[in-house]
Amino acid sequence: MPHLKIAVLGSGKGSNFRAILSAIMAGHLRVTPVLAASDVADAGILNLAENLGIPTTVINEPKFRTRLSEEVESKLVEELQASGAELIVLAGYMRLVKSPLLEAFPRRIINIHPSLLPSFPGLEAWRQALTAGVKMTGCTVHFVDSGMDTGEIIGQSEVSILPGDTPETLHARIQEAEHELYPEVLARFARRELP
Ligand code: GAR
Repeated sequence: MPHLKIAVLGSGKGSNFRAILSAIMAGHLRVTPVLAASDVADAGILNLAENLGIPTTVINEPKFRTRLSEEVESKLVEELQASGAELIVLAGYMRLVKSPLLEAFPRRIINIHPSLLPSFPGLEAWRQALTAGVKMTGCTVHFVDSGMDTGEIIGQSEVSILPGDTPETLHARIQEAEHELYPEVLARFARRELP
């Protein structure tokens, strides 16, 4: 079975992409990253990709902070299509995905979110969970739709909230769970178990 071609989009430090790359290098994941894209010029995922010779692109969006303008998103779609990516993997991409991208890759964009959705969508979900006083949170991989963290859930992993947890300690433990969950879900796509 040929490797699944993925493009990765991220805005942050890139630890999820690092976990995916580690799983590939360990031979656990028949996936080939064909493009890494970021709206942040010095984002971790770009450095990781450059070091491995994976093509990169910087999305330049001066107009909006929470989404891309239609024009900029259309240009990104062209680059994603030209890369041959079969699945678009959001790994800490902090903008909403809009119609040109959603329409170009129907049910082929996935995201990881640091809570057990549908609880705590949006920003700093770990902090939301602490503030709410719940005992259990976690992370979720889901298909991306036009809502904010509302798409169909593919996989989840639970993380207990411990006495004395701070936002930082809790987020760190959730990230450990993310680094297991995302490669596991990608392996299901790579085995063509998911549509
Ligand atoms: C991850 O915890 C991810 O769940 C979160 O951003 C972090 C990125 O970390 N994403 C969201 O909150 C999206 N709503 P990383 O850059 O180290 O992979």
